[in-house]
Amino acid sequence: MKMWSGRFRQPLDPQFERWQRSFDFDRRLLSYELAASGAHARALKNAGVLSADELISILEGLQQIGETFSHVSQKTRDMGHPTEVVDDEAEDVHHFVEKQLVVRIGELGYKLHSGRSRNEQIATDLRLYVRAAIDELRKLLAEVCGAFSDRADQAGSAAMPAYTHLQHAEPVLVAHWLLAYVEMFLRDAERLADCRKRLNFCPLGSGAVAGATLPLDRNFMAEELEFAGPTANSMDATSDRDFMLEFVDALSLLSLHLSRWAEEMIIFSTQEFGFVRLPEAYSTGSSAMPQKKNPDLLELVRGKTGRVIGNATALMMTLKGLPLAYNKDLQETQEPLFDAADTALGLLPLVAGFMKTVEFDYPRMNEAAQSGFMNAWAGATYLVGRGVPSRLAHEQIGKAVKLCLERNCELQDLGIEELQALHPAFDEGFYDCLKPAAVLAIHDVVGGTAPARVKQGIAAARKKVEALREEVNFHAHA
Ligand code: ARG
Repeated sequence: MKMWSGRFRQPLDPQFERWQRSFDFDRRLLSYELAASGAHARALKNAGVLSADELISILEGLQQIGETFSHVSQKTRDMGHPTEVVDDEAEDVHHFVEKQLVVRIGELGYKLHSGRSRNEQIATDLRLYVRAAIDELRKLLAEVCGAFSDRADQAGSAAMPAYTHLQHAEPVLVAHWLLAYVEMFLRDAERLADCRKRLNFCPLGSGAVAGATLPLDRNFMAEELEFAGPTANSMDATSDRDFMLEFVDALSLLSLHLSRWAEEMIIFSTQEFGFVRLPEAYSTGSSAMPQKKNPDLLELVRGKTGRVIGNATALMMTLKGLPLAYNKDLQETQEPLFDAADTALGLLPLVAGFMKTVEFDYPRMNEAAQSGFMNAWAGATYLVGRGVPSRLAHEQIGKAVKLCLERNCELQDLGIEELQALHPAFDEGFYDCLKPAAVLAIHDVVGGTAPARVKQGIAAARKKVEALREEVNFHAHA
C-alpha cells in the first residue's frame, strides 16, 4: 500500500513511479530509520497513542526487521552501501520499514506513522548518518596523522629543500615538512567535530512542516537518539540540509589537503627529484612501457578531490532557490552526500597505508638541501648579526650569489678576500654559518625548522593526535 494514495483517482505513470523513488540509495539509512522509529514509537506510547502492548509489538517488529536485514544494518554501520536488499514497491526507506512492519505485526504497523511525516524522518536519518560518518572519518584521520607523525619521527635529522614558487627556498627538516600535513589533517578533524556539534539536534516531532500534531515529547526523542536536544523550528528542521553541506565542504577541504600532498609526492617521485620511492604495493605498471612504475594511488587521490568538490557544488546548486520548507528536490541531496562520504572514507586508509610504506631517499634529499644557495638568507643573517643593516646585507649576499653563478659554485666556495672585497664585515665565521646544521638551527622560533623546535613539534603533534584518538573512541562507545 502506498503511503499517500487516498486522494488519487489515477495510478502513477509507471515510468515516473520508478523514477521518483529513492529506495535504491536511501536503503543505506535503514538502521537509522529503525532507531528513529523506535524513539517515535516510545514517544507515541508516552503520549497515550499506543498501548503498552502495542508498543511492545511495534518494537519487536522493528527489531525483527533489523535482524532480517542485519547485513544491511551492519553495512550501514561500516559506512558501506548495501545493495542486497531489493523491494520493487518501496518508494523509500520509510515506506520500506512500514511495509515490513505490517508484514510482521499486521495493521498495527500503520499506527507507527501516527503524528509524524517522512519530512522529519529523512532529516533525522540523514543527521544520524552524517554523525556516524564524522565519527568514522575522525578515527581514520587520527590514523593518518599517526602515520605522518611516525614518519616525521623516523626522518630524524634528514633535511630537504623547502620551496616557494616551486624554486629552492631554504632547507627544512623532512620531519618539519611532514608535520605541516599533520596540522592540516588536525584542522580537518576539528572542522568535522564542529559540524557534528551543530548538527546534533533532533528533528523528530517537527512533523511535515509545522510541528507534530500529537503531544510528543521532543526532548525525550532527542535523548533516545543521543542528540543534544530537539531542533528549535519545525520549518527549518524539515528543510535544513546545512549540516550536509558543511560536512561535504569539510570533506572538500580534507580532500584538497590530500590532493596537495598527492601532487607533492608525485613531483618528488619523478626521476628529476627522486626524493620518494613509490611503494610497489600502491603503484601500477604500464601495459605498454615495461619500465614504468606509476603513482596511481596519488593520482587517484588528486582526481577524487575533484569529485568531492563536485558533490559540494551539486549540493549548493540543489539547495539554492528552494522555498521553505520540504521540497522533493531535497531527495537529490542524498547521493552527493553519500558519494562524498564514501570517497573520503575510501581515501584515508589508503593514504595511511601508503605513508607507512613509502620510502624516502634521505641522502638525495639532504644533498638537494645543500645546493642552490639555500643558505643565502642564513648568510645575510650572519652579516646582520655583525651589525650590517638588513637591506645592505641582502644586497651583498646577492652580489656574492652573482659571483657564484658566474663561477658555477656555491657561497662557501668563495674566498675570504673576495667576500671582504664585497663588505669588510665578512670573516671566517661566515663559513660556519653556511653549514647545513647552522642554517637549520637559526630558524629557532616556535613553529620553525630548528631541530629542537621540530622535536617539540613532533611531541606536540603526537599529543594532539592522541587526544583526537581518545575523543573518537569516546564517541564510538557513547
Ligand atoms: N524520500 C524522501 C526524501 O528523501 C523522503 C521524504 C518524502 N517526503 C515527501 N513529502 N514526499 O526526501
